[in-house]
Parts: sequence; structure tokens; C-alpha cells
Amino acid sequence: MLEAFAQPLSASTRYCAVFGHPIRHSASPALQNAGLAALGLDWRYLAFEVHPDNLREAIRGAQVMKFIGVNLTVPHKLLAMDMVDLLDESAQTWGAVNTIRFEARAKDGIWRPLRYFAETVPSEIRAHGFNTDAVGLGRALREDLGMELAGAKVVLLGAGGAGRVAALKLAAEKVSQLFLVNRTLPKAESLRDEIHQRFPEVKAAVGYPGQAVDLVVNATSLGLKPEDTSPLDESQFSLRQARAVYDMIYRPAETPLLRAAKGAGCRVANGVGMLLYQGTEALEIWTGRTAPVEVMRKALLNNIYGT
Ligand code: ATR
Repeated sequence: MLEAFAQPLSASTRYCAVFGHPIRHSASPALQNAGLAALGLDWRYLAFEVHPDNLREAIRGAQVMKFIGVNLTVPHKLLAMDMVDLLDESAQTWGAVNTIRFEARAKDGIWRPLRYFAETVPSEIRAHGFNTDAVGLGRALREDLGMELAGAKVVLLGAGGAGRVAALKLAAEKVSQLFLVNRTLPKAESLRDEIHQRFPEVKAAVGYPGQAVDLVVNATSLGLKPEDTSPLDESQFSLRQARAVYDMIYRPAETPLLRAAKGAGCRVANGVGMLLYQGTEALEIWTGRTAPVEVMRKALLNNIYGT
């Protein structure tokens, strides 16, 4: 048992939750409850299967039940942009919401996170949307791969929801060149155009590079299923031309891409770090305290890999 709450559940226990569809395999409850217990909070983190058609009602339900906050996972992150009362700069910048913090208007008229109200919570409550995925990716690339992103040349595989956040984050970190690769070409092209518009100093191009790069990032879903092949076409780009490879997938721990990258001598890391750091960031947004990272990492690895 990794989480050991000092107090049993009671009528004054506070709640956070994750909403997703599907949700059964989410590692977030293990991750967050370990963090909450280590901080000594009488809070719990729950998981709910919420169909996208019911997302608005579910957020509203958590709000009226005075939850501290919620996380949103697939397929809710884009939908929620229109369902919160206020968007933090992070959600505006990355165009997706994965963390909501509920805030109440105090007697002095100031909005404060619900953690500030112990006895009576004011009835006027708003949902404040944040995005912690980009922070999570940046921190994972720095800490797990030792990457210096400024000036780096990067190949990004995937231009879906996760790929877009990754591309924008890498551009914001001032990588020098971004090579965008996606099965459906128009999606990579429109991402390239968005990068050009928002980050004109970053050279973004569609397709594999004809040169060595510092980093390859996989943001496609290829590798999740046992029969999946690598998302990287080695006839077009050799992994020997890459110094490091990051795969956002964390289950399985070693995807065909990471296996090949290891064989080619690249530094490699899977997506568990990104999952960890998006979660520690969310916990800090809710609690206002420094997240107990190592306790949370241990709980996450135990939940996912049984280690
Ligand atoms: P997410 O939110 O996880 O990014 P998504 O928006 O559905 O999910 O994006 C999935 C990504 O994986 C896309 O880049 C997708 O490529 P397409 O844009 O061409 O659909 C990529 N992907 C999924 N299955 C794939 C496959 N079999 N081969 C190549 N790319 C695949």
C-alpha cells in the first residue's frame, strides 16, 4: 500500500477526480492519492467514466459538490475549452484543458481556490481551466533525457491532439528546427503553418530531415497495441541520425520505436515522466504546495509496471 492517509474518509474529506472515456486504466488515482497522502491532506482523488456528451454536466456536478478540482483526459481536453468559466494562460496557449481548479468568491470579493475554504464554502464557484501537459513534456525531456531544448533540431511524429501541444511547446522552448511527420499530411501542414504564425523564429517543415537531429518525439498512438509497428519510417530517416528519442507512450514501457532507438545507440525515455510531471503540476495548482515528486513517481511506477 503506497498511500497511507492519516484520516479515514469522513464528511469533511475533500475531492479531486479525473474524467475520461475510457478511464479504467488511468494511473492518475494512484499517482495523485500518493501525493495527497504524503502531503497529509484529508483529500481523495477519484476516477469517473464520463461520456463526452455529459462532460458539461459532470464538470458542473463536481463544481456544485465543491470538488477541489478535476483532471480531464481523452477525449475531453479540447471540449472543455468551452466549458470552463476562465482559461489560464497555459490553457489558452496550448488550446486544451487537462486540469480544472474550482474557485469560490470570498466575502471580500476575491476568487480563491477551494482549498482556502474549510468550513463554509461560498456558493458562487467558478471553474478555472489549466493545461499541465506541456509543462510535463518539457520537464520530462529535460530531466529524463537531459535535453537542452533551445536551439535543438527535433523530429516530431504525430499531429493529433498530443502532437499539436508537443509542437507548440517545443516551439515555445525555442527549438531551432522542427520536422513534422504525420500519416495525414494536411494535419502536419496546418501545424507547420500555425508554428510559422505563432513562432516565426522556429523553422518548421513537413517531412523527415536530411540531416542529424538532437531529438525524435513520438506523439502518435502507434506502439500502444502489441501488433503496432514503429511510427518512424527508417527507410526515410535512420535512428543513427538521432541523439535521443522520447516516446509519449508509457504502456508498454518499451515500444518498437524505443527498442530500435536503443539499438541505434540513442538516449531514450518513455512517456511516464510526462505523465508524472503533468500530475505533479496539477497537484501544485490545487494544493498550492510543492508536490512530493519522488513519492508520486514511486506510486506511478508501481501502478503501471508493478515495480
Ligand atoms: P492524441 O490526442 O493522442 O494525439 P489523436 O488526436 O487521435 O490522439 O492523434 C493520434 C495521432 O496518432 C495522429 O497523429 C495519428 O495520425 P493521423 O493524423 O494520420 O490520424 C497518429 N496515428 C494513429 N494511428 C496511426 C497509424 N496506424 N499510423 C500512423 N499514425 C497513426
